Amino acid sequence: MDIEFVRSRFIKHFDGSTGSVYASPGRINLIGEHTDYNGGFVFPGAIDKGMVAELKINGTNKVRAYSIDLKDYVEFGLNEEDAPRASWARYIFGVCREIIKRGGKIAGFNTAFAGDVPLGAGMSSSAALESTYAFALNDMFNCGIDKFELAKIGQATEHNYCGVNCGIMDQFASVFGKAEHLIRLDCRSLEYQYFPFNPQGYRLVLLDSVVKHELASSAYNDRRKSCENVVAAIQKRHPHVEFLRDANMAMLDEVKAEISAEDYMRAEYVIGEVQRVLDVCDALERGDYETVGQKMYETHHGMSKLYEVSCEELDFLNDIAKECGVTGSRVMGGGFGGCTINLVKDELYDAFIEKAKVEYKKKYGRLPKVYDVVISDGARKLC
Ligand code: GLA
Repeated sequence: MDIEFVRSRFIKHFDGSTGSVYASPGRINLIGEHTDYNGGFVFPGAIDKGMVAELKINGTNKVRAYSIDLKDYVEFGLNEEDAPRASWARYIFGVCREIIKRGGKIAGFNTAFAGDVPLGAGMSSSAALESTYAFALNDMFNCGIDKFELAKIGQATEHNYCGVNCGIMDQFASVFGKAEHLIRLDCRSLEYQYFPFNPQGYRLVLLDSVVKHELASSAYNDRRKSCENVVAAIQKRHPHVEFLRDANMAMLDEVKAEISAEDYMRAEYVIGEVQRVLDVCDALERGDYETVGQKMYETHHGMSKLYEVSCEELDFLNDIAKECGVTGSRVMGGGFGGCTINLVKDELYDAFIEKAKVEYKKKYGRLPKVYDVVISDGARKLC
């Protein structure tokens, strides 16, 4: 994303002066999907696509915000009753409110922002936006909030202002990202570890089905509710089980008669997925990419058949990967659309991308988008 582009729009839109520019990225996740709100592990990394925003304190108590991509301008105050209607502006408003709730003293500012992380494609464009503003406002107003709390401010914005009861993965990756490293996060203890990721002979590539997942928030919240139902049932026998991460298949089978068949399937997927993250980390340390890839296919199968967050187009892209002999492939992020993430041997890359394009076009009348993954740094000040 070009700083000069954002700056030129900021200057044009406001009083001609410049402010400070901040950026925060979207993310990929190698494995560990829908495990974060179950207290399990995730394994994300920040990418080279994200949001860039220029901000300048304006001496009033109003925020004047311009979305360069949407060519939309909104003005709002900082009190709870000032919530803007435009959904993009609610992310900024939510971040302001969550900072204020934590004792941060902020005031009005002018801002313009743009992004190159595709919206609704499972790469966390919304977390990139939240992290950009959380990081920027904390820095500009000297709020003294630590990086974990910045991530939590983004998550709380989703919960309280955008209607998505998400976990912490996306905002964490956007704030803590580090070039050439994936991060294994234990979402219960919040301990994390950077893993160098530079697989020799392989590439990570995203295939975007171009199916938007915007309407998925209620389905996402339903999945979370299912997990909580199962925990409540297991807890009666095993009081120490706080999250599905603490449960195993034997415990799940004990409560099978007390929960719905659907909730059982959801929990079965999560219990398997928590373990797969650990297996993938071990395999990576051994340089065993075949196992990494195999686990990715297992995740796809679980997300498609048990957790039911895939869609026809994503299953189709996953099948093509399998047919081409791609090492690993799966739907990435919350699901219901967006991308598959693929671990591909260098020598297979061209043939795979070509076949995916031809076959997808033949079946769905449009091309998938292709994004090579470059693991990059997290939230930062650019100038
Ligand atoms: C979305 C949420 C995350 C996580 C993923 C699924 O991206 O924002 O918290 O639950 O889905 O792994």
